[in-house]
Formats: sequence, structure tokens, C-alpha cells
Amino acid sequence: MLSKKMEKALNEQINAELYSSYLYLAMSAHFADQNLEGFANWMRIQAQEELAHAMKFFDHIIERDGQAKLAAIKGPESTFKAPLEIFQAAFEHEKYISGRINDLVTLAIKENDHASNNFLQWFVGEQVEEEATANGIVQQLKLIGKDAAATFHLDIELAKRIFTPPV
Ligand code: FEO
Repeated sequence: MLSKKMEKALNEQINAELYSSYLYLAMSAHFADQNLEGFANWMRIQAQEELAHAMKFFDHIIERDGQAKLAAIKGPESTFKAPLEIFQAAFEHEKYISGRINDLVTLAIKENDHASNNFLQWFVGEQVEEEATANGIVQQLKLIGKDAAATFHLDIELAKRIFTPPV
């Protein structure tokens, strides 16, 4: 059984993951509008991943006999600039999410909630990957600069990303 504090914090994380999904979907829409279909695909898959993350929290709360509560999702940023700035914003957002996961682990330990701590460890590993992936694309975009051919080449690479549901 979840403590009330833990239940509230996990519910807030459902909202944070759904906001992440919204944010990346908005970025995907922007890239599609710019005819950067590979970038748009990458962000669309990212949005799907975030939705799957939200569902993991949703399922954990229910499995632990808690109550999943869905709050309003904030509207995402809608004015976007160049691909580099967008991926830098995605990287910053992932660092923010990592901080939230760390706080959840700290709370689980404080609440003596070993099951939630164990559940959250998957996210600890996932966030290392999330940050590294976003930062990797930031670094590539820095190297590319204003080279249109290289941007086009990266767009083709990012078009290859497919959605794999998390286990
Ligand atoms: Fe669900 Fe990208 O963190």
C-alpha cells in the first residue's frame, strides 16, 4: 500500500510524463511544418515513449492499491527555433525529469517504500539513456552548424527511429 505522500508524488509524475509527451509532440508538429520529417519522427516516437512512461506510473499506483488521479496537462511551448535550440530544450527537459525521478527515489526511501524504490530504479536507468540520447543529437547539431546537406543527412538518420514499448 502506498503512503498518501508517495501516492501524491507518483500522481504528479504521471502529469509530468504526460506533459513531456505533449512537449515532444508539439516539437514534432513544428518539425513536420518545417518539412524535417526525420526530426518530426524522432520527436513523435519520443512523445510515445513519454506516454508509456506515464502508463508505468499509472499501473504502479493501481497495483499498489493507490488511486491514480489525472490532473490538467499544461499546454506545451509552441514557439520553436532552429533544431539545435529545440534539442537543447529537450536535453534541459530531460535533466529536469531526472531531478524529479531522483526526488521520488529520495521520498520512497524516506517512506520506507521498497517496492516504489525498486520500481523507480528502472526510471533512474532510463533517464541516463534519455539525457545521453538528447545530448548526443545536440552535439551532432553543433558540429553540423548551418550545413544544409549535413542537416538533411541527420534528418534521414532520425527517420529510422521506431517505437519499442518499454518493458
Ligand atoms: Fe519520461 Fe523522457 O522522461
